[in-house]
Amino acid sequence: MNKLIGKLKSTGTLSKSEFIELIGCDKKTAEKLRKTAEAIRDEYYGHGIFIRGLIEFSNYCRQDCLYCGIRRSNKDCSRYRLTEDEILSCCKEGYALGFRTFVLQGGEDPYFNDDRMSAIIDMIKSEFPDCALTLSLGEKSYDSYKRFFDAGADRYLLRHETANAAHYARLHPASQTFENRKNCLYDLKKIGYQVGCGFMVGSPYQTAETLADDLLFISELKPQMVGIGPFIHHSETPFRDFPDGTLEQTLLLLSIIRIMLPAVLLPATTALATIHPKGRELGILAGANVVMPNLSPLGVRKNYQLYDNKVCTGDESAQCRLCLEKRMEAIGFHIVTGRGDPRQTPNNTKE
Ligand code: 5AD
Ligand code: FES
Repeated sequence: MNKLIGKLKSTGTLSKSEFIELIGCDKKTAEKLRKTAEAIRDEYYGHGIFIRGLIEFSNYCRQDCLYCGIRRSNKDCSRYRLTEDEILSCCKEGYALGFRTFVLQGGEDPYFNDDRMSAIIDMIKSEFPDCALTLSLGEKSYDSYKRFFDAGADRYLLRHETANAAHYARLHPASQTFENRKNCLYDLKKIGYQVGCGFMVGSPYQTAETLADDLLFISELKPQMVGIGPFIHHSETPFRDFPDGTLEQTLLLLSIIRIMLPAVLLPATTALATIHPKGRELGILAGANVVMPNLSPLGVRKNYQLYDNKVCTGDESAQCRLCLEKRMEAIGFHIVTGRGDPRQTPNNTKE
């Protein structure tokens, strides 16, 4: 096992069978991976934690992912979309709280067509030129992605969900394919975005083999960001009876990903905070360096329910910011205000 960790550290990847072996490792090896990941994170980012202000601006979605609470078929979900003014007020509030990255996240809502999206991007970038803007709007055409980039968007998050095509087909309706997801991610990279992929840990039908495919895909794509969190069931989806992903496996994968991509921007996610009261802190201690508190207006937060029991839906943005600061300080870390761009390394520079 030590040899595997050494190889992962020096080459950034492993063979599929080696990844499978590492994913099945015992607690002692998991702790070694954690320590290695921490040391790498410290070398690249120290104890500074980047913050991103998340604005969930629409929960309308034309897609029907089987795991997701805002899927089209969930008739129980009460739908909302924020106005341009509401989005701008979230940014203003966030700016005053020290956020210099905003993440616009929404379902695939046709109302926000390219013209409307470009206008919003332009509005935010004109008002806050010193901020980075991240989009998370799902699958779009190359031309749409290019328009948003030209309008000023800097980063794009699109989790690949699983890099195993057969597994992908069990998590999505037939109209959604891994092939298309992958093409979207490569389009985004080609256009020049800082790109984030990612997956849920413990999603239904996931195995060590599909996880190894995820890691191989990540080592091939070389994204600047990777978002991973546990799968958490949602009671109004077909996966309501599947067990949630575990804390231990999520932490293990965070550490492996940090070792693979030393400069990666790696969030300790809200889903991780939802399955364990100290989830975010443990994520940081496993190698993460980003947290993404919610800036959405209080009135809509409960409706952006991708999974059951999501934390932080009842707290003001300022409260969340303060709470996170205290939580980070309690484990010897501090929040960094600034855009929080990735460190440049031979691995993550644009080709
Ligand atoms: N549990 C955990 N994460 C989920 N996501 C969607 N549904 C769930 C769930 N039930 C994740 C997906 C998506 C991201 C926005 O949220 O990975 O890409
Ligand atoms: Fe939201 Fe603490 S981070 S209440």
